[in-house]
Amino acid sequence: LTRNALVSPPYGGRLAFLVDALGGAGVDALLVTHPPNLRYLVGFDGSLGALLVSAGGSTLVVDGRYITSASARAATTPGLENLRIELADRSLEEAVARVVMGSAGIFNLGVEAAAISLSRFDRLSHTLGMAEAAGDLSAPRLRATEHLVERARMVKDDGEVATLRDAARRLSGVAAAVMSDVRAGRTEHEVAADIDATIRRAGFERSAFETIVASGPNSALPHARPGGRTLQPGDGVVLDFGGVYDGYCVDLTRTVQLAPLSEEFGRLFDAVSAAHAAAIRAVAPGVPASSIDRAARLVLEGLGLAEYFVHGTGHGLGLEVHEEPRLTKPGSTQTDETLMPGMVFTIEPGVYVPGLGGVRIEDDILVVRQGCEVLTDMPIDRLGRSRDE
Ligand code: GLY
Ligand code: MN
Ligand code: MN
Repeated sequence: LTRNALVSPPYGGRLAFLVDALGGAGVDALLVTHPPNLRYLVGFDGSLGALLVSAGGSTLVVDGRYITSASARAATTPGLENLRIELADRSLEEAVARVVMGSAGIFNLGVEAAAISLSRFDRLSHTLGMAEAAGDLSAPRLRATEHLVERARMVKDDGEVATLRDAARRLSGVAAAVMSDVRAGRTEHEVAADIDATIRRAGFERSAFETIVASGPNSALPHARPGGRTLQPGDGVVLDFGGVYDGYCVDLTRTVQLAPLSEEFGRLFDAVSAAHAAAIRAVAPGVPASSIDRAARLVLEGLGLAEYFVHGTGHGLGLEVHEEPRLTKPGSTQTDETLMPGMVFTIEPGVYVPGLGGVRIEDDILVVRQGCEVLTDMPIDRLGRSRDE
């Protein structure tokens, strides 16, 4: 049990906040099916479940695999005293329809458009229609919603910040420890396996995504998968890895060059370091997320490298490794969020020059009232030296 697991998250407040947001979304109830949202709202971490949230109360629908654990959690967890648990004995949709038709005042039922399959949506719609035909109640209209829970998740509470800070400290330790594993003669696969083992030893539940070790020409592919290539003298090597700690994801990238160093790779490295530093300097509450992307992009533009920066500058971190807010050009996501204290995200500019190689540098940032706190702590050094070397 970790320290933070001893303190229960404020589930009651999260549910109440969501109930308050329903009206603005034009719905009387929301059917939450995105697993990270279920975990955030009621601590449910199974693979399948549905939570109906409305002003009349909340009901978690689960199948037989989870009924015992979900009932026990509801009975013993502060904030979940009023959570009802419903068994899906035949299908999830049938149980959801039963709960919905048994609740007064649900005329418009929101679903999470990005997290319900078309087949489940059709089945729910059909089951509600059947229930309507069999009785004298009319079925609610199903409405697509987006980002209702994700927007709440964007600003972390004190417990989440403590978890992420601890996780980032551990991941920084992983970064310092693995640099000596990056040597000519080893394969990308071998280095990636070392990183994954170190992540586990550092107390993480698992890696947050498939670890990236991209060497030589492969470093010019932003999301290369590690392969059998043997690291060569002079290679640039992008190392990008993350861990899940107490459910929360952290994410770090360093790029190193194996001797002999080259001037042209050094230019890319210095450019990305400067873009990364400029982006961090731009972080403050009240500024749009896109302005952080702009700060990084301006530096690379000034050095004639903008065309090689082919992704956004960062993404939110939390129960998912990629979540809101997105730090990208305005217009490339639905919303350009305004930064607020408690937001946690990566800053990870990169340049990828086919034939020459790529550089990416990534740290995890917490927005605070005065600006930001960099949660990860690993020197930015082309030789991969850690602080004590
Ligand atoms: N490799 C995932 C990321 O850095 O976003
Ligand atoms: Mn990463
Ligand atoms: Mn990332």
